[in-house]
Amino acid sequence: MTHATPKGPPAPRTAREVLDRSQHFLAQRGLPGARREAELLVANAIGLDRLGLYLELDRPLDKDELDRAREAVLRRSKGEPAAYILGRREFYGRSFAVRPGVLIPRPETELLVDRARELVEELIVEGTDEPRLADLGTGSGCIAITMLLECPTTRVLALDLSPEAVEIAGENAKALEVPTERFGLRCGDAFEGLAALAPGGVDLLLSNPPYIDPRVGDELAADVRAHEPALALFAPDGDPDHWARRLMQERERLLSPGGRALVELGFDQAPRLEALAAASGLEVRIHPDLEGIPRLLEFGR
Ligand SMILES: C[S@@+](CC[C@H](N)C(=O)[O-])C[C@H]1O[C@@H](n2cnc3c(N)ncnc32)[C@H](O)[C@@H]1O
Repeated sequence: MTHATPKGPPAPRTAREVLDRSQHFLAQRGLPGARREAELLVANAIGLDRLGLYLELDRPLDKDELDRAREAVLRRSKGEPAAYILGRREFYGRSFAVRPGVLIPRPETELLVDRARELVEELIVEGTDEPRLADLGTGSGCIAITMLLECPTTRVLALDLSPEAVEIAGENAKALEVPTERFGLRCGDAFEGLAALAPGGVDLLLSNPPYIDPRVGDELAADVRAHEPALALFAPDGDPDHWARRLMQERERLLSPGGRALVELGFDQAPRLEALAAASGLEVRIHPDLEGIPRLLEFGR
């Protein structure tokens, strides 16, 4: 007597079928933007970008491609950020390597680069031909490397306390062909490192520091809290303004005469820092991001 083997739904074969099923799977698990996420993960699993995927929708996938796509979609469904699964994230039009241990660059940080480019132009017009920049808490190196590539006459010092971040920033600098003679990358405390390596201060100080109060850490998206490094996210307990305040207080030591600083802020920091600046007679500018959130603090020496 023969036994019929129980049959589930047939395994998907073409890229289109895998894409549709992955989208469905992610949507069922409540993931917003499931189509786009599925496109990114499936395309990456078969070594293509999203456009390439659409050109090959009818191509049957081999077993390795299918396994990679399934694993990626499963990891994403459990909340792992897509950037860590793909190992990359776009920033300012370039692709940066990222891994757990380094913050995933955020689109709002591009605002800091936009403003920093304007300030570099001003410095050059005012006669500083080779402006010296520092990026404190460089993470993947996204700010420092972008500045060097967008403003090739600058010299940029990038500091981070995390050895993993410094390793990844170094990989990104190499992959993006940053001129090594203009780029300094060091592992260590940002404030001590800057004082030691640029004793006269820098012309433009840039930082996207950790600014989340651990006391409200529960309000963070679960994906962020579970996967991104605490050192990159959290300020000292109860003091989300710690970095920005310290940069303001130590500005005369950190900035050269005529130097300026740009610091990314959390959504509710600006009023407190403006009040602090006013109390000490320091003029500051606050730049809103595209959502109208006061995102960037700018001040001079
Ligand atoms: C919010 S992340 C920013 C990363 C990157 N600049 C970006 O915008 O994606 C802050 C970074 O500061 C680093 N960091 C935290 N404390 C530090 C310290 N005392 N000195 C230097 N870097 C520090 C973290 O490791 C992390 O890479």
